[in-house]
Amino acid sequence: MTRPPVDPTVELRGITKRFPGTLANDAVDLTVHRGEIHALMGENGAGKSTLMSILYGMERADAGSIRIDGREVTFGDPSAAMAAGLGMVHQSFKLFDSLTVAENVVYAAEPRRFGLLDRAAARRRVRELAEEHGLAVDPDARVGDLPVGLRQRVEILKLLHRGARTLILDEPTAVLTPAEADALFAVLKSLAAQGRTVILVTHKLREVLEGSDKVTVLRDGRVVARLVTADTSADEIAAAMTGRAVDLDRVHAPGTPGDAVLEVTSLTTDAVHDVGLTVHAGEIVGIAGVAGNGQSELVEALAGLRPVTAGQVTLKGRDITHVSATERRAQGLAYVPEDRHAVGTAPAASVADNLAMGHHRTSLSAKGLLPPATVRTHAGRLIERFGIKAATPEVPASALSGGNLQKLLIGRELAHEAPLLLVEQPTRGVDIGAIQNIHDQIVAYRDAGHAVLLVSAELSEIRGLADRVLVMYEGRVTATYTKDEADEQALGLAMAGGAVAPTEAVD
Ligand SMILES: Nc1ncnc2c1ncn2[C@@H]1O[C@H](COP(=O)(O)OP(=O)(O)O)[C@@H](O)[C@H]1O
Ligand SMILES: [Mg+2]
Repeated sequence: MTRPPVDPTVELRGITKRFPGTLANDAVDLTVHRGEIHALMGENGAGKSTLMSILYGMERADAGSIRIDGREVTFGDPSAAMAAGLGMVHQSFKLFDSLTVAENVVYAAEPRRFGLLDRAAARRRVRELAEEHGLAVDPDARVGDLPVGLRQRVEILKLLHRGARTLILDEPTAVLTPAEADALFAVLKSLAAQGRTVILVTHKLREVLEGSDKVTVLRDGRVVARLVTADTSADEIAAAMTGRAVDLDRVHAPGTPGDAVLEVTSLTTDAVHDVGLTVHAGEIVGIAGVAGNGQSELVEALAGLRPVTAGQVTLKGRDITHVSATERRAQGLAYVPEDRHAVGTAPAASVADNLAMGHHRTSLSAKGLLPPATVRTHAGRLIERFGIKAATPEVPASALSGGNLQKLLIGRELAHEAPLLLVEQPTRGVDIGAIQNIHDQIVAYRDAGHAVLLVSAELSEIRGLADRVLVMYEGRVTATYTKDEADEQALGLAMAGGAVAPTEAVD
């Protein structure tokens, strides 16, 4: 069946925007048709947000033109863009936490009765919209009490209430769990099926392949590919984004396991039940699971950051079950936490100082003191090895992008050469090009004879790196696979709770 031709609803022509020292958008053309989900992709700094800010009237282009539904427009501000049928969900939500869902949705576009806000009508309106679009959320809930996935729904409801026909979402899944992301895509698909248009800014390949119709790729401010999703592949998009061939499904050769380094028996915490596992020198053990099944709590317990209520943990034969986090580090444990902002780094301290952190008692240090020259050389080496993009080693860590902060954290922890590395979500928010480097470094670390416990929500990452894979479900290890057994289907089933009994661990 051929569909009738549809006119473009959004046309950007020759959009150019220069910031001091950066050409953020370089003669960008983007055409989006009604009823499509159009992914705008590119690595960090490619110019995606700038382009969308221009479209939405938040920034002014230096050159170029915008047409909406065939008419040329110049938006001085977002309200003009809204009036033309555009709506944008920003990376950080702009809701009032103390107001209810209904109050937020109708804010500044309220139904009124005798000049007063008609609360009953507002509630009704939210229910109608929610039902129509599969965006279930309680109209009377306080927005501040809602999880992010639901807050995002409120943002979308707000745009729909104002009659947005084209929705722009900037990195909407960055803050969502995989299940919440799936729910979001179901909503976007139904909106598109009703003839609304979605522009989805993202750098995640999987969701683009599953959830979009077209793809435009930006690199260094320029359009480098226009693709039809059904006719492209993850490899093709990744190559366009990075400018070189990237093998995303690379499976690293298995390691050669030696002696046991980490031994965990019957470990129990508030969220972990009776977990047993062993990680050997020269081995990467991967823990797969849907977020929220006890993986983070397990890692925290191993790192000494969460009380253990039962069970035992030994590191190189020494019982560390009730030993402090600091002491564990001293005994040979390095740790890359999931939350690099809150736990992993000191934002106000310099990049060099962050890289030196925790090295005060190790090889770098003479007598517990770090000479500035040593800090500098150490930083220089890691910046080079991990490709950390920092103007100078003296800038504060807060000046780094998320991906570069992650490289800093991993570089710092690997530099300890600790016998055991605990690493959680090592490539979350990291550019595709940098993911390969991080993976290579983790494998090299293993091959140097270290033990690695890897927790990741990315199945391809687990499959590519791990020599053995454990699946956690509801706080327990419910399945164990060798590298060969760990195919996507088996893991997916176990992650959804489908593994009946754990298979024998291969030691
Ligand atoms: N307000 C600004 N001032 C200076 N430079 C900016 C500003 N906004 C973005 N940039 C720069 O423009 C480039 C593109 O940024 P951005 O559009 O945010 O990329 P993306 O959203 O693809 O990650 C980057 O090099 C960024 O540092
Ligand atoms: Mg952006």
